[in-house]
Amino acid sequence: MNSQTPANVPNIENWNLLLEGKVAVVTGGGGGIGRGISELFAEHGAIVEIAEIDAELANTAVQEITSAGGNARAHIMDVREESDVTDLQKKVLDTHGHIDVLVNNVGDYRPLVRFLDSSPDSWKEMYDINLHHVFLVTHAFLQSMIDGGGGSIINVHSVEGMRGYPGDPIYGAMKAAVNHFSTCLASGFGRKGIRVNGMGVDLTQTPQVNYISGYEDADHLWEAWAPVGRLGWPEDQARVALFLASDLSAFVTGHNIPVDGGSHAGGGWFFSPEAKRFVNRPKTL
Ligand SMILES: NC(=O)c1ccc[n+]([C@@H]2O[C@H](COP(=O)([O-])OP(=O)(O)OC[C@H]3O[C@@H](n4cnc5c(N)ncnc54)[C@H](O)[C@@H]3O)[C@@H](O)[C@H]2O)c1
Repeated sequence: MNSQTPANVPNIENWNLLLEGKVAVVTGGGGGIGRGISELFAEHGAIVEIAEIDAELANTAVQEITSAGGNARAHIMDVREESDVTDLQKKVLDTHGHIDVLVNNVGDYRPLVRFLDSSPDSWKEMYDINLHHVFLVTHAFLQSMIDGGGGSIINVHSVEGMRGYPGDPIYGAMKAAVNHFSTCLASGFGRKGIRVNGMGVDLTQTPQVNYISGYEDADHLWEAWAPVGRLGWPEDQARVALFLASDLSAFVTGHNIPVDGGSHAGGGWFFSPEAKRFVNRPKTL
């Protein structure tokens, strides 16, 4: 008998509660993009387990989510530390038995060290904060996701892992590794009900990257810097994460979506507000 029928498309019962009852782990879920993701997931009915190094941020996030009627818990920890990740795994699985969604969001370009000044120590630092924990946390939860009937893994990386980044090729390489890890993991575990996708972030206002400060007089240049013509916010990232976490994207796996206001697509060609045309060798914009 042919098992290929439209009934294989998961039913969405409530489009306003896309993650109802789902258990979601969000690393770095207390601040920036991770905070936006935690809030939107909770709004859509998820039980959010926030893995966060900053206690104040973590506790504030949980307070605000719960006072808005959501469900969240904080784990104050460093995702780079294997013992911390083992503790997280134990606490989360002791409570729920499995997880449905994992968002590996922690990452940082700082301290920015130019390649000629860099060293094995600085390479290791970039590796630890951008890549090692993605392996650690994924490894800690993947089996429980399979046993629980499947789930979605979302790896937040950077547009710099999808295009040439002259500023720091080590950072770019770590983000590209997260990008490709997502694709490889997806191809290996799709048949076990696991979907894996990456988000190539750019141009999003957070505590880590302040795009406004120092650029107050350059507001008119946003239409040059981003095809959508504006700065992005954690909510912009969270909406894409919600799509990837939920059954809305049930047939999407192994992909890396630039969530960048179009900077990747538009790279190389800048819109000049002054000339009112696209230029690829701007002397001024
Ligand atoms: N904001 C952007 O425009 C932008 C651009 C490219 C890539 N990114 C990527 O997006 C992701 C989120 O960035 P963001 O701008 O929201 O950063 P952010 O620094 O504002 O927020 C990161 C959160 O993670 C927490 N955190 C940091 N180290 C941790 C650790 N070791 N263990 C647990 N928690 C830790 C921080 O306390 C903070 O709450 C990162 O992977 C970053 O590289 C962001």
